[in-house]
Parts: sequence; C-alpha cells; structure tokens
Amino acid sequence: MNEKFENLKILREKAKLGGGKKRIESQHKKGKLTARERIELLVDEGSFEEIDMFVKHRANEFGLEKQKILGDGVITGFAKINNRPVALFSQDFTVFGGSLSEAHAEKIVKIMDMAMKLGIPVIGLNDSGGARIQEGVVSLGGYADIFLRNTLASGVIPQISAILGPCAGGAVYSPAITDFVFMVRNTSYMFVTGPNVVKTVTHEEVTFEDLGGADTHAVKSGVAHFSLDNEMEVLENVRRLMDFIPLNWKDVPPEKEFNFSQDFTVPELDNIVPHNPNKPYDMMEIIHLLLDDGDFMEVHKDFATNIIVGFGRVGGMSVGIVANQPSVLAGVLDINSSVKGARFVRFCDAFNIPLLVIEDVPGFLPGTDQEWNGIIKNGAKLLFAFAEATVPKVTVITRKAYGGAYDVMNSKHIRGDFNFAWPTAEIAVMGPKGAVEVIFKKEIENSDDPQKELDKKLSEFIEKFANPYIAAERGYIDDVIYPKETRGKIIQAFQLLKTKVDVNPKKKHSNIPL
Ligand code: HXC
Repeated sequence: MNEKFENLKILREKAKLGGGKKRIESQHKKGKLTARERIELLVDEGSFEEIDMFVKHRANEFGLEKQKILGDGVITGFAKINNRPVALFSQDFTVFGGSLSEAHAEKIVKIMDMAMKLGIPVIGLNDSGGARIQEGVVSLGGYADIFLRNTLASGVIPQISAILGPCAGGAVYSPAITDFVFMVRNTSYMFVTGPNVVKTVTHEEVTFEDLGGADTHAVKSGVAHFSLDNEMEVLENVRRLMDFIPLNWKDVPPEKEFNFSQDFTVPELDNIVPHNPNKPYDMMEIIHLLLDDGDFMEVHKDFATNIIVGFGRVGGMSVGIVANQPSVLAGVLDINSSVKGARFVRFCDAFNIPLLVIEDVPGFLPGTDQEWNGIIKNGAKLLFAFAEATVPKVTVITRKAYGGAYDVMNSKHIRGDFNFAWPTAEIAVMGPKGAVEVIFKKEIENSDDPQKELDKKLSEFIEKFANPYIAAERGYIDDVIYPKETRGKIIQAFQLLKTKVDVNPKKKHSNIPL
C-alpha cells in the first residue's frame, strides 16, 4: 500500500515540475513566473484545487510519443479569490511552449463546462506558442471547442484573460471574446500574424512589442483593457476586478458595508466646472469625489481617453461609471470612445452592475475620417447599449449635453432612471454659436454691424437655451441639483433602484450595429 501512496507522491511532484528545472529557469530568466507561481499569487492562499494533473497528450508523431508530460502544458482547477469561487486555467510555457494539444484543450473545456454549471467566472492565464504544431488539425479543433464555449458563456459568467506570454494566430480569438484582457509590458504579445509574416506581406518592419505588445493593444487597438508593468500587478488587478463583479448573470455584485448616517455633502464639487464653458477640466476629479473612498478602477485607461469607464462603489454598491472627459478632445464622442463605452455598458448590463453616467459632451466628432470609418454605426453602438440596458441607470449632467450625444448618454428617453443636472448644464440641440449662426443667419448678414448682432443673438440664446431648466420643465431632467449634493443624491438613487425590474421584449437576440 505504502508503495502505491509513494507512487502518487512521486507522480504529483513530477507533474508540478512541468517541463523541468531547466525550462523553469529559462522562464524566470525571461522575467516570467511559472504557471503555478501565477496561480499562487492570483488566488486565496491554499484554495487551489487542481484537476486533471495526470492528463497526457495522445500524439504519436514527430517523437512526441517519447515526451509525455503530466498535465500536458496547462494547469486547471478551481480556487477562491477573496473567498469567492472561480474556475481557472494557467498555461505552462515550460511544456511544449504552452502549446495547445487536443488533451490540453479538453482540460480547458472541462473547467469551462463546469464553470457554466456552477455559475462561476473563468480566469485564463495565457502563455502559449499556439496550436501544438505536431498535432495538426486536432489542435485547431481544440481551439474551436474553446471559442464555442467562450461564446456561449458570454453574458452568463464573467470571463477574464491575462496574457502573460505569447498569444498568436487564431489563439487570440479566445481572449478577444472574453470580457477583460490584461497584458504585461515587454513579456506578452498578441497578434494574428507575427512580425515575419507582416514583413513578407506588407514589407513593414515591426518589433513584437510594437506590433502586439501591451501598450499597443491598450492605446491603439483597444484589445487590452489593462496594460501593466509586471505579472504581479496583473494578478493583483484581476483580484481587484473580481471584487466589483458578480459570479454570474443571476448573481448581484458584491456589496460592501456602508454607513448611511453621515453627511454626504462634498463642497469641492461646487468649484470644479469652470465659469468659461469652453475651458476644460478633469472629469476624474469629479469621479473620485463621487465614489466611496475615492476608489475607482479604471478600465481601458489608455484607449479613447475622451471617455472614461470603470468600476467604483456608491453607498457600498458596485457601479459601472461612464463619463465624458472634457480635458481630452473636449469630451466629444468619436468612433473609439463610442465602442469603448458600448462594450463596458453591455458588460455591466449583462452582469447586473448599475450604471452611473457623468455627462459633459459637446456632440459627435465631425470629419471625413470619422464619417468614412463609420461614426454612424459606431456611435449607434453606444446608443444601442444604453437603450437596451435594464440595470439601474443614473445620469448627472455637469455641463454640456448637446445634440444626439444628449440622447445617447443615458437620457431619460432611453430609460435613464434618475437624470440630474447641475445648474451649469447646457442642454440644447447644438452649442450657442453654431445655433445662432444657423437660425439668425439672415439677420446677422443684413445687419449694419454683423459682429454686434451676432453677440446680441448669442447672449439671448445662451440666456434662453444654455441651461438645464427647459429640459427640467419637460421632466427630461428629474432634478437640478447643486454639485455638492450629488453624492448624496446618487447614493439615494441607487438604493431606491435596488428593487428595479425592467425587461426587454422577448427575442432570439438583438442585432447591435456591428
Ligand atoms: C509545439 C512548440 C510550439 C508549438 C513552441 N514550442 N511553440 N511546440 N507547438 N506551437 C516549443 C518549442 O519547440 C520549444 O521546445 C519550446 O516550446 C519553447 O519554445 P522556444 O521557441 O524555445 O521559445 P521562445 O524562443 O521563447 O519562442 C516562443 C515562440 C516560438 C515565439 C512562441 O516558440 C514560436 O514561434 N512558436 C511557434 C508559434 C506558432 O507558429 N504557433 C502556431 C501558430 S498558428 P523545446 O523542446 O526546444 O524547449 C496557431 C493556430 C491557432 O496557433 C488557430 C486557432 C484557430
């Protein structure tokens, strides 16, 4: 008997060594942690329960029959993060470069299927050379099996991907379907075709990092939601993200204890919006002042920075924040900011996370570049996402709410639940100057002093329309409030909205303009 127990011990130790000491050293030399070290840092101490440690590949070509490594290049199992369950896989680059074989794919599929039954998130730590070349089409089949599950799980359980090494070719499409992609600077990359193929096809010379590194995807493509300096930071931030999100679409996000018997007045809020409506200010200041402990987890921080999205807490409740940023492009909506906002709104709506919208938007960005690249269909994504969302939705208009952008940014008309405006709000079809030049064109041209006439009409227009009261008269704004009252108002609003029930018409699925 003892011999059998001893054998199990030996096998476990062998499995834990993955591709062996030399390859582990080489992994460390590259500044990367091993698959097991990553799991240890990610989950609550001692909570990881591994399965399928003894799985081996079944290939018999190219000498593979002589290299059967326990676990086959991926560690899978279940664990806890801040005492809440997750399913996870961690690819082991020390075993065939973390490449995906039939058996490796089956292990991932198994925990995904389990996660769906249990209603718990899946976290993937990716570090892989892609399809196991020696296995050919069965490896491609394995990828497709994962893609299918990523797709079916979308909106059912949260899916988080950390890219901690190579992720190339079709393999990129699994993380791409998941809800959040984390990347590490300098040691991770994602691309459909690598620098060599790029050189052959387009004659461009580009490095791995420039083509598909963390900052490239965080700033330019928007594929990565988080770009961080090292793996430890990535794993810490995955843990942090978990604190804001529920386990599945029927669950509610974790709530923190909160003391409601305190004064919620924030006097500093009264001094943020400048007197001159054309002067920028930093929306981030408002966000920090409105949230519990000023704690904000920004998502997509470096992409389309004219809109800000991320998670925070209001009265202990987890909320998703969508805010225009007047200090970047005057907070205008363009293609990238619309897509960024829409994806975030849809995540929050799918997972019962209430939305707080803070609005200062002069409209959509004009120009051939925007029109030819489809600002119409892309702007429509944000409109569609807000309109479709049934979670509690609260809007605060701090300053501009002009044109179509007023409608889009969670207006009352598309089911905003509580829409507040500050006295500095300007809610109108367009900015005063543009409006006056259109409607008083003839009067201004025919006047003896066109400039004087323009100024006169402008001040009349500002007096009449550049304020929140016309919208408030109609009930498009529920209340005009002092900025300093805002935190108290939104805490009350989200508490009241806890029992909100709203449903969309039954259908197979909607057809968001893609
Ligand atoms: C089998 C692989 C492998 C793979 C790496 N290895 N990738 N084995 N299949 N795809 C093995 C190597 O042979 C090596 O084994 C070990 O892993 C470490 O690899 P190195 O090349 O030494 O590491 P490094 O120098 O860091 O380079 C990493 C790499 C490179 C850039 C990822 O290995 C590479 O280019 N791999 C091939 C990538 C690729 O073309 N994959 C297929 C993409 S197509 P030893 O025994 O020497 O340690 C694809 C389609 C998916 O994935 C489609 C889904 C729809």
